[in-house]
Amino acid sequence: MKKYIVLFALTGMVAACGGGATKTEEKTATEAAAPVADLSSNPDYQKGLALIGKSDCLTCHKVREKLIGPAYQDVANKYENTDANITLLAGKIIAGGKGVWGEVPMTPHPTVSEDDAKQMVKYILLLKK
Ligand code: HEC
Repeated sequence: MKKYIVLFALTGMVAACGGGATKTEEKTATEAAAPVADLSSNPDYQKGLALIGKSDCLTCHKVREKLIGPAYQDVANKYENTDANITLLAGKIIAGGKGVWGEVPMTPHPTVSEDDAKQMVKYILLLKK
């Protein structure tokens, strides 16, 4: 967190001296640094990411951009990080889902256990911005 604040202060100073061009840089620098620096040491993040890496999720989902399914960051922005939402979304990963983000359905994942599905959701919801 400290690192992030320092970085922000530095880019802020640079932006204050420069013109419009440095402002864009400031935005991408903070965007790139913020989630990664804070999250990578969180055990929920690491476990969830490992499970997602082992499954087929990333053929349809990316963290920041919509692919076939919604970007994980958009999912995180839509749902509050509560037990009820974790259970709801874990159920959709297992049973499949449709109609929330568009007409393209998500395939069901019956071989994913409920615990693993919940762990995946915990990772996704940490990506909130
Ligand atoms: C075949 C492509 C595909 C695969 C594979 C896939 N998804 Fe999805 N996913 C989608 C689509 C499409 C949606 C949007 C469904 C909708 O509109 O309700 C979605 C939605 C979601 C949502 C949000 C559900 C909601 O109701 O808001 C979560 C969370 C999610 N996927 C997680 C995962 C995880 C974790 C995996 C891996 C186990 C996975 N997805 C694999 C296509 C896929």
